[in-house]
Amino acid sequence: MKRISPSGPVAGTVRLPGSKSITNRALLVAALASGESRLVGALRSDDTEAMIDSLSRLGVAVSWDGYDLIVAGSDGSLGAGDTEIDVRGSGTTARFLTAACTVRDGTVVVDGNRRMRQRPIGDLVRALGELGAAVEVLGEEDRPPVRVHGPALTGGAAILDASRSSQFASAVLMVAPCADGDTVLELREPIVSRPYIDQTLEVMRAFGAEAAWDGPTTLTVAAGGYAARDFIIEGDASAAAYPLVAAAVCGGSVRVGPLPEGSLQADLGLIPILERMGAEVRREGDDVILNGHPQTLAAVSENMNDAPDAVVALAVAALFAGGETRLTDIANLRIKESNRMEDLAMELRKLGGIAATGPDFLVVEGGELRAATIDPHDDHRMAMSFAVAGLRIPGVEIEDPECVAKTWPGFFAALESITTPLIIAVDGPGGVGKSTVSQAVAGRFGLGHLETGGMYRAGALAVLEAGIDIGDEAAVAALIDTLTVDVVDGRVIMNGTDVTDVLRTEAVSTASSRVSAVPRVREALVALQRRWVRPDGGGAVVEGRDIGTVVFPDSPAKVYLTARPDVRAIRRVRDLGLSEDDIPRIAADLAARDERDSTRAVSPLRPADDALILDTSDMPIEQVIDTVARFVIDRGRHPTT
Ligand code: DC
Repeated sequence: MKRISPSGPVAGTVRLPGSKSITNRALLVAALASGESRLVGALRSDDTEAMIDSLSRLGVAVSWDGYDLIVAGSDGSLGAGDTEIDVRGSGTTARFLTAACTVRDGTVVVDGNRRMRQRPIGDLVRALGELGAAVEVLGEEDRPPVRVHGPALTGGAAILDASRSSQFASAVLMVAPCADGDTVLELREPIVSRPYIDQTLEVMRAFGAEAAWDGPTTLTVAAGGYAARDFIIEGDASAAAYPLVAAAVCGGSVRVGPLPEGSLQADLGLIPILERMGAEVRREGDDVILNGHPQTLAAVSENMNDAPDAVVALAVAALFAGGETRLTDIANLRIKESNRMEDLAMELRKLGGIAATGPDFLVVEGGELRAATIDPHDDHRMAMSFAVAGLRIPGVEIEDPECVAKTWPGFFAALESITTPLIIAVDGPGGVGKSTVSQAVAGRFGLGHLETGGMYRAGALAVLEAGIDIGDEAAVAALIDTLTVDVVDGRVIMNGTDVTDVLRTEAVSTASSRVSAVPRVREALVALQRRWVRPDGGGAVVEGRDIGTVVFPDSPAKVYLTARPDVRAIRRVRDLGLSEDDIPRIAADLAARDERDSTRAVSPLRPADDALILDTSDMPIEQVIDTVARFVIDRGRHPTT
């Protein structure tokens, strides 16, 4: 189980893992080539390890050299002899090696985990049969395991149903240069995820094969094998989705790469979609930089046929967009690592999102978002996408977080490296319930709590104890410079002594309001407050007078509490255990403090432009807490008053 810390605006750079789809394609092509290849910046993950282990079992030597893979090519033979391979949960390994083993001398059984045994492979087996191969399906209903007898690939013409998975077409294409003769592959429409086929052709051609489209549904491949080479693997565009969506929904800026211009990776299609939702995107060399504007994130309607892997991250982004997002032409989501359509919708609903599914579409809207424990259904893309949701919704937990290792073992470290502590700024005059509300919200979201008034009160106490004239700004400033103040577990420690219990007297209250108007005092204490939230890095509710306007102006969740003066005076009298007779005096004190705090030259008390302003006069405290908590979860989507 992994609890996700909510984040303020993100900031930083993410070096992407190597592309999974390019790594596994290059691995197979290099294994079939003549000579030794180096795959630079390859991905090390469950899926690529499944391919590497399977190739090794077939008799092809593959080894790591830092981030590179060294592949000893088999010159079109892929080893020899009878064996079995376990592709575990890797779809590309299952499909690519089922096809590739048709040129191998021997019998190979290709099997995988429970989920793999539910993923269809019959369309591929039939097309291979038309090209002379002998492949038996051993599982039920066209599903693995399969047994491949070789060598038997003659080439020729075949028709392939490409409506379920582009991996079938890629599998046939990649083995085709090693067939006895040329191959013509006719794809029966509709063709899903066509960009992946283009990516396959690009890798094949890089290793010297002649392979191309010959019409909208026809592909031709010349026999002739592959030549080894050094090959640079791009960053994984599917992985880029998570940091990019994080910036789109949390705000801030993130840089991801390497994603070279002109890259054919299908999931780069997510970037223009995020732009249409309102994010700003620009390129610098091989890097993509996204600046998010969560307050104005807009819903979109998109055909996702070309970028199905980006759907999960996009559906999470849609939770935070204004309006209904419609993602269409995604029927094949139902046969991915999980039944991604229904599982995704179910987990979105757990977070309070509105999600409706159709045979080939998904509609998502925000709704009343709330924390939840997410079951990724053993699907790395679900785990990574919902971790991003947890940056915006405090309290999200991800079950089985290790499943991200399928494609990105370093995902959580990368995500943490771009997050910033979530600061909730609560400002307002005295007696509005700031402390009660801040403490409750901090408790609910597992955040720290800092009451900055205590720091000013400690400063005032020191001035009073030293007998300094508060009007003597130079003397007050000099004293503050020698003072140490800290807040630990809600207790105020001044010069090493816990002074919490003597800070709430009327004398200290009045003095603190005056002391806090001295610029040097504010400078020193604001610096202390900013330092205070850093050490644990886990975010905090910070309350005071100038938190949203001066101390943490980048806070994505600013709240300004007010109440009528008579109500505040009654609350103060109750807090201090005074009698009703004291109400007029306390009311006058509060009024004088308000006047001073709001009219002083430096950091006067006022709401930030983007603050939620709440008049708590007639609201029960529980309702105030709930309203603030909801605002924090909805920050950006919530209209401010
Ligand atoms: O919140 P409080 O009543 O404990 O604050 C005491 C005084 O400190 C208040 O009158 C104004 C000042 N203060 C401030 O100027 N800025 C803050 N962030 C917090 C308190």
